[in-house]
Amino acid sequence: MNIAFFDTKPYDRESFEKYEGPGMHLRFFETRLTPDTVNLAAGSDVVCVFVNDVVNAEVIDKLCQGGVKLLALRCAGYNNVDLDHAFGRLHVVHVPAYSPYAVAEHTMALLLTSIRRIHKAYNRTRDFNFSLSGLTGFDLHGKTVGVVGTGKIGRIFIDICRGFGMKVLAYDRFPAADSGIDYVSLEELFTQSDIISFHCPLTAETYHMVNAQTIQIMKKGVVLVNTSRGALIDAEALLEGIKERKVGAACLDVYEEESDIFFQDFSGHIVSDDTLARLITMPNVIVTSHQAFLTSEALGNIAETTMNNISSFFESGSCENELCYHCGQVENCRKLRRKKCF
Ligand code: NAI
Repeated sequence: MNIAFFDTKPYDRESFEKYEGPGMHLRFFETRLTPDTVNLAAGSDVVCVFVNDVVNAEVIDKLCQGGVKLLALRCAGYNNVDLDHAFGRLHVVHVPAYSPYAVAEHTMALLLTSIRRIHKAYNRTRDFNFSLSGLTGFDLHGKTVGVVGTGKIGRIFIDICRGFGMKVLAYDRFPAADSGIDYVSLEELFTQSDIISFHCPLTAETYHMVNAQTIQIMKKGVVLVNTSRGALIDAEALLEGIKERKVGAACLDVYEEESDIFFQDFSGHIVSDDTLARLITMPNVIVTSHQAFLTSEALGNIAETTMNNISSFFESGSCENELCYHCGQVENCRKLRRKKCF
């Protein structure tokens, strides 16, 4: 079995290398998978990719021509894969959950850091500046948080918020019955929340759900937290909202144009993305570079599920974590029932 890993970092290698052995050859590429790099995958049975690899129609065709039989995503989201084009050509598996706690906890960490100015205090005290001016925050207790998307991560974040004594409003396209969650319309959530946190997938419907119009209906001073996918927020509209003092703070673990920037060291270089550069200069914006998943528990689970997905696919011809455009379901997949549908 030959597996080619793209967009790998030292921590990826550490978590996967233990699976190497007789008959199991792992090749790690630092570069992202793109139409320009796809030839590196030639001769592999499996290609393993992450959130910012490009798996469009051209890449899928070249992977198939090179003999690749399985695309193994080592992440949950799959908006970077043309599943429509993959159908009938390439099987796609993913890791539906590796540690929803990691992402939900990072979401709260970002929120607390922002509203209690921890990042500023940290820098000040390192410089022996013990002044408190400008560090006034606000209590989370009693505030209303709007949670968009109440799947695995959204629900854990809701539990964390309830622990802080916050009032929780939620919106989900498919509300969970008997969950005890207070569901409202998206418009109501936007107008009533002091803090809004995003935990839904990026789809055509959710693309730019935060835009110039929706920002206008939000409360003045709203805090926006996005640990889901960058393109849920129109970054230029967010920047305007911050400049107009409408948005009180933004905590971003994801950014819509992150793919050429995040996971790389640009210190000492000039970053050409003006919107990101301007956002980062704002005192009320915190950016982490798609780091919410990054705990040792999550990395271990990602590696284990990815390798189980691969062996399950090759041993039985099907995998419970297979994705496809046609059914779009992970559980009770038709392909699974039919034992590999194409
Ligand atoms: P999940 O699949 O368990 O939950 C997603 C929820 O969003 C579901 O309840 C679904 O009904 C809902 N949803 C679907 N379409 C919607 C719409 N149009 N409007 C509102 N809600 C909608 O997914 P999970 O595990 O909770 O992950 C959520 C998102 O977090 C993922 O899609 C992914 O983009 C992101 N993520 C980010 C990570 C990071 O490191 N920053 C790591 C892992 C996931």
